[in-house]
Amino acid sequence: MSSPKHLPSKYFYDTAGDRLFQEIMHSEEYYPFECELEIFKESTGPLADFITRPEEPLDLIELGAGDCTKSSHLLKYLVRAHTNFTYIPIDISAGIIRYLERELPAGIPAIRVMGLHGEYFEMLEKAAALSNHRKVVMFLGSNLGNMLPDQALNFCCDLRRYLRPRDRAIIGLDLKKNPATVLAAYNDKAGLTRKFNLNLLHRINRELHANFDVDQFQHFPVYDPDTGSCKSYLISLKKQEVALITPGGTRIIHFAENEEIFMEISQKYTVDQINSLARHAGFTPRGMLQDKKKWFVDVIWEVN
Ligand code: AVI
Repeated sequence: MSSPKHLPSKYFYDTAGDRLFQEIMHSEEYYPFECELEIFKESTGPLADFITRPEEPLDLIELGAGDCTKSSHLLKYLVRAHTNFTYIPIDISAGIIRYLERELPAGIPAIRVMGLHGEYFEMLEKAAALSNHRKVVMFLGSNLGNMLPDQALNFCCDLRRYLRPRDRAIIGLDLKKNPATVLAAYNDKAGLTRKFNLNLLHRINRELHANFDVDQFQHFPVYDPDTGSCKSYLISLKKQEVALITPGGTRIIHFAENEEIFMEISQKYTVDQINSLARHAGFTPRGMLQDKKKWFVDVIWEVN
């Protein structure tokens, strides 16, 4: 058992978690979604210029594409400009890939879509085997921010290994800003983020036949303006025991009163830190686009 206890945030996204995350994205306090959407809507031309080269076919890959609300603006722009490209969304959900392959050509006639359903790096390998076109990989939505900084560096180094010189990446990251603004985004008044975190305990109860007394855990987000890390915890409100049924048998987990479970990191960066991350991972920063408030950035990196 790790100390502090930890539940990886990738498990947040069951059906209820997906729905809550959609609600969070449209809540008053959660700004990253709107900021990045603004970049994709307002800076589509410059973004396209950063990734296209005349007469050169392109594979535009998106890791964790979801419903591609943001990238669809870029896709429409590229189709209208008669760019020779294939959009390759990669997602762990087969349902999402089926949806994109069906809906995108309906909304953007003449688009070429080749969805891949599976783990990011396995699917990148598959994409590399499919064509030798130049690749541009999008990893948006500050998803990199859900990794601890050293894990984020390892992820970028791994990404680099699946690409070739001249390939590019568009990475969306949330920037350091007024600490109260950041904290409010993870502590919304309507309690959506609280429900989103507690939903993982409900999920474990359902799927692992556990007996978490969900009301006895408190959502507790903190933001450290020095390190830029925003972390969410669930605090056990009393000394309690939880039973889980695992393949190895029933397991009892003990919680002390006020003991924390570390749920999620949402790391905020400065532009300098992002540039340094690029260089350490084997990329050269080629450009960046920001929203008007300068709260969010999409950086364009080129493989060295
Ligand atoms: C998906 N990810 C970038 C979100 C974030 O901001 O860290 C997940 C999230 N967690 C709570 N609110 C949103």
